[in-house]
Amino acid sequence: MHVDDGIIIAPSILASDFSRLADEVSAIDRAGADWIHLDVMDGHFVPNLTFGPPVIKALRHVTDRTFDAHLMVSNPDALLDSYAKAGAEIITVHAEACPHLDRTLSRIRELGCRAGVSLNPHSPADVLAHVLDRLDLILVMTVNPGFGGQSFIGAMAEKIATIRQMTAGRDIVIEVDGGITAETAPLVAAAGARALVAGSAVFKGDGEAAYRANIDAIRTAAAAAR
Ligand code: DX5
Ligand code: ZN
Repeated sequence: MHVDDGIIIAPSILASDFSRLADEVSAIDRAGADWIHLDVMDGHFVPNLTFGPPVIKALRHVTDRTFDAHLMVSNPDALLDSYAKAGAEIITVHAEACPHLDRTLSRIRELGCRAGVSLNPHSPADVLAHVLDRLDLILVMTVNPGFGGQSFIGAMAEKIATIRQMTAGRDIVIEVDGGITAETAPLVAAAGARALVAGSAVFKGDGEAAYRANIDAIRTAAAAAR
């Protein structure tokens, strides 16, 4: 992990200019991103399609930052090896897409990656109760996955707080994703989130200087609320 204890900012490249992807990743690296959040969508689990292992592999040459792969796909098991080989360091699967979640998480660790589970807004925290030993990260969706630029769902603050209690004393990072801005960051940080994914709020404006200001604003707002 890039940061040991403080707030982790993970810009989602979903909101970047895909025609200049390498430049955009390099710009957020220089602008102070801790992790690079990679939104993989299959057009099945979510109604949108993005990219997969070949694109992740190509981007691996652009930055040393931690690659945080968020697999919004129906059958993640089929390609776990490919994501690990492509350079993903954290692999997060959706609980809703994994009938054998315990096995999937074990496999991610076997591949030498950190294992994450994401929950859609309607999914209760309880589904994680019996896999906590297999987890390095819990990604609480604060919008319904599939698209950037949606509004933060306020009710997720309570779920984050529940998960914080559930994971007390464990080395598990709580991450949030969707509608995170300098305005919503304090709500999730106060509830217990440490890693904040942000797409549109980071890639606002043009290039490194704008991205740096955006990242700093989210980090400062979150850190003050912890
Ligand atoms: C949603 C994705 C998010 C998304 C966040 O399906 O998982 O990572 O890109 O975008 P914003 O920050 O614009 O809500
Ligand atoms: Zn995501």
